[in-house]
Amino acid sequence: MIAEAMQPMASRPFRIDRFWKETYDTFSMELMPLDGHTFSFEPGQFNMLYVWGAGEVPISISGNPTKNHILTHTVRAVGSVTKFMANLKKNDIVGVRGPYGVPWPVAEAHGHDIVIICGGIGLAPLRPALYYILHHREKFGKILMLYGARTPDDMLYVKELEQWRGRFDMHVSVTVDRADASWRGNVGVVTSLMPRFHFDREMTIALVCGPEIMMRYTLLELSKRGIMEENLYLSMERNMKCGIGVCGHCQFRHFFICKDGPVFRYDRIKHLMLRREL
Ligand SMILES: Cc1cc2nc3c(=O)[nH]c(=O)nc-3n(C[C@H](O)[C@H](O)[C@H](O)COP(=O)(O)OP(=O)(O)OC[C@H]3O[C@@H](n4cnc5c(N)ncnc54)[C@H](O)[C@@H]3O)c2cc1C
Ligand code: FES
Repeated sequence: MIAEAMQPMASRPFRIDRFWKETYDTFSMELMPLDGHTFSFEPGQFNMLYVWGAGEVPISISGNPTKNHILTHTVRAVGSVTKFMANLKKNDIVGVRGPYGVPWPVAEAHGHDIVIICGGIGLAPLRPALYYILHHREKFGKILMLYGARTPDDMLYVKELEQWRGRFDMHVSVTVDRADASWRGNVGVVTSLMPRFHFDREMTIALVCGPEIMMRYTLLELSKRGIMEENLYLSMERNMKCGIGVCGHCQFRHFFICKDGPVFRYDRIKHLMLRREL
C-alpha cells in the first residue's frame, strides 16, 4: 500500500547515452530508459532529474517529440545539483520522473503564424515546440524565432541555429546583450529585434521563455502591438520539490507551477508576474 502511494515519487533509471557541452556552463545529455519502457512527452513538459548523492531538479525536455525514443535534456550548471550533474559522463545513471506539466499549445496553434521568443536557456523548453512545428510545417503560417543570449559564448545550439537560419520557410534572428570584436550580429536585448517584424494581430500565437524580466517586457511589447493576450504563452519557473502538485513548493497564488504550468496563457497570470512567492 505504502509502496503504491509512493509510486509517483519513484524515479526510473536512465543511462546517459551521449553527453556533450553546449557552452562553458551548459551541457546536454541523451538518456535511454533501463527498464525497457518507452518515453513520450509533449513540447514544454519537464522531468524531475535525480542524481544519486546530489538531489533532484526540474529540467525541461529539450529534444524532438517526434523522435521520442531519445530523451534529451539541456542543463545550465548553476548550483549544487546541476554542477554535480555537469560532471556526469556516458553510461552514468540518472533517475527520471515525468514527464510533467502543461505543454505549449502547439496542436491548438495549427493555422496560425508562430513567433517564438526566447532568452538564454529558455531556448531549451522551446526547442521541442519548434521541432513539432517544423515537422508539421504545412499546418502553420509564418514562423519567426527571436533568440537573445548574454554573450556569443552563451548561445545554445549554435549549429542548429545556423541550419534554421538557412531555411526558406522560417525566419530566425539572434542578438546578444554584450559582444566582442568578432561578433558580426545584432547587439541588444531580444525585444530590440521586434520593431523589424510585422505581426498579424489576430493570426499570431507567441511562445515566450526566458528570464522573468525578459518575458515581462516581451509580452508587454507583443500585446502593445495588438496581439491578443489569449494568444500569448509563457513558461514559468519556480523552485520545485515534488513536481506533481503535492508539496506546495512551487505555489504561485492559486496556481501550482508544476501542474497548472509551467506553460501559462499570459492573460491568466500577467497580474502575478515578477512575484517570487505565494
Ligand atoms: C519547470 C522548470 C523547467 C526547468 N528547465 C530547465 C532546463 O531545461 N535547463 C536548466 O538548466 N534549468 C532548468 N530549470 C531550472 C533548474 O531547475 C534550476 O536551475 C535547478 O533546479 C537549480 O538547482 P541546483 O541544485 O543546481 O541549484 P541550487 O543550489 O538550488 O540554486 C542555485 C541558484 O539558482 C536559484 N534557483 C534554484 N532553482 C531555481 C528555480 N527553479 N527557479 C529560479 N531560481 C532557482 C537558487 O535560488 C540559487 O540562487 C527549470 C526549472 C523549472 C521549474
Ligand atoms: S513542486 Fe510540489 S506542488 Fe509543485
